[in-house]
Amino acid sequence: MAEEILTQEKPEKKKRIFSAIQPSGTITLGNYVGALRNWVKLQDDYECIFAVADLHAITVRQDPKVFRQNILNAYALFLACGIDTEKSIFFIQSHVHTHAELAWLLNCYTQFGELSRMTQFKDKSAKHADNVNAGLFTYPSLMAADILLYQADLVPIGADQKQHLELTRNIAERFNGIYGKTFTIPDGYIPKVGARVMSLQDPTKKMSKSDENNNAWVALLDKPETIMKKFKRAITDSEARVCIGEGKDGINNLIGIMSAVTGKTADEITAEFEGKGYGDFKTAVGEAVIEEVRPIQERFDRLIKDKAYLEEQYRKSAEIAEKISQRTLDKAMKKIGYLAR
Ligand code: AMP
Ligand code: TRP
Repeated sequence: MAEEILTQEKPEKKKRIFSAIQPSGTITLGNYVGALRNWVKLQDDYECIFAVADLHAITVRQDPKVFRQNILNAYALFLACGIDTEKSIFFIQSHVHTHAELAWLLNCYTQFGELSRMTQFKDKSAKHADNVNAGLFTYPSLMAADILLYQADLVPIGADQKQHLELTRNIAERFNGIYGKTFTIPDGYIPKVGARVMSLQDPTKKMSKSDENNNAWVALLDKPETIMKKFKRAITDSEARVCIGEGKDGINNLIGIMSAVTGKTADEITAEFEGKGYGDFKTAVGEAVIEEVRPIQERFDRLIKDKAYLEEQYRKSAEIAEKISQRTLDKAMKKIGYLAR
C-alpha cells in the first residue's frame, strides 16, 4: 500500500495526510491520546505519510548521543503504537533531503512579519533566551515544506500547531498566486475535544513533557508503578464526586483520560464511581492507563533491540518519500526559474 501511494500519484477517493512529531526524549500520554493514537486510526481511511521531525528538533540544543537515541526511540515507539509501514509511509525527516531544500525556497516566500507573529517562536525564544537562533525563527517554513512536498490534503495537528498550519496555507497560496498551482492547500485536522490531556499537577495547563514537575505528565514508557504514583498524586478538588463539572478541572481531565483509554462515556464513568471516593477513581484511571500502554511497551522493548528491522523500515519509507517529494521540489524549482539538472 505504501508503494501504491507512489505509483497512483493521487487515487480518486483517499485523501492524503501528512503529520510529524518531534523526537523529544519523552513521548507523553498527551502525545499518544492527542496525536499518535489518531494517526494509527487514520491509516485505514487515508493515504498517510508520517515523519519523525528530527530537523525541527535542533532549533533547541541537543546532546548528540542522546539525540541519536531519541530519534531511534521515537521511531520504534511510533511503530509500537501501531504506525504500520505496510499501510503508511513513515520516515525520518533528515533522511529525505527535499525537506531542507524546499524549506530554503519557502523561506524566501515567507515574510519576517509573519514569522514574528508565531506564538511558539515567542514562547520558545523566551524560554531559551540564550539561543534564539534563526532556525527557531524560520521553523514554520520547514514545517510548511514538510506538508507541501507531499501535496497533503489534511494535516492532523494539535491546537498548538494551528497557527503554523495557517501560515503554511498562506505560503502555499502566495506561491501558487505567483507561479500557478504548485501546492495543494492543506486543511487542518484537529481532533475533537477530549483530545487535550491536561497536566496532572495543574489541570488548567496542557500535559507537556517540558513541564519541570515530573508528576505533571505520564510518559508512554513510564513504568507501571510510576504511572500509578503519578495518578495517585493527581490534583483534584474537594467535592469528592466523580463527574464533569465547572471548577473540577482535575477530575474533568481524569474522566477525559479514562474515557479516552476505555472508550466509556463520561456518564458511564460517573455512574460506575457513584458513591466512591477520588482515591478509588485515581487508582482505576492509573490501572486503565497501565493496561493501555502495556502492549505498546512490550512491542517497544522488542523493536528497539532489532536495529536491523528498524533500519529496513525507515529506509524503505524514506526512499518512497524522497521520490514523491522530489517531484514537488522539481516542480517548484522549475516554476521559480531554476535550470533543470
Ligand atoms: P509536542 O509534544 O508538543 O511537540 O506535540 C506533538 C503532538 O502531540 C502534537 O500534535 C500535539 O498537539 C500533541 N499533544 C502534545 N501534548 C498534548 C496534550 N497534552 N494533549 C493532547 N495532545 C497533545
Ligand atoms: N511542528 C510540529 C510540532 O512541534 C511537528 C511537525 C513538524 C509537524 N512538521 C510537521 C506537524 C508537519 C504537522 C505537519 O508538534
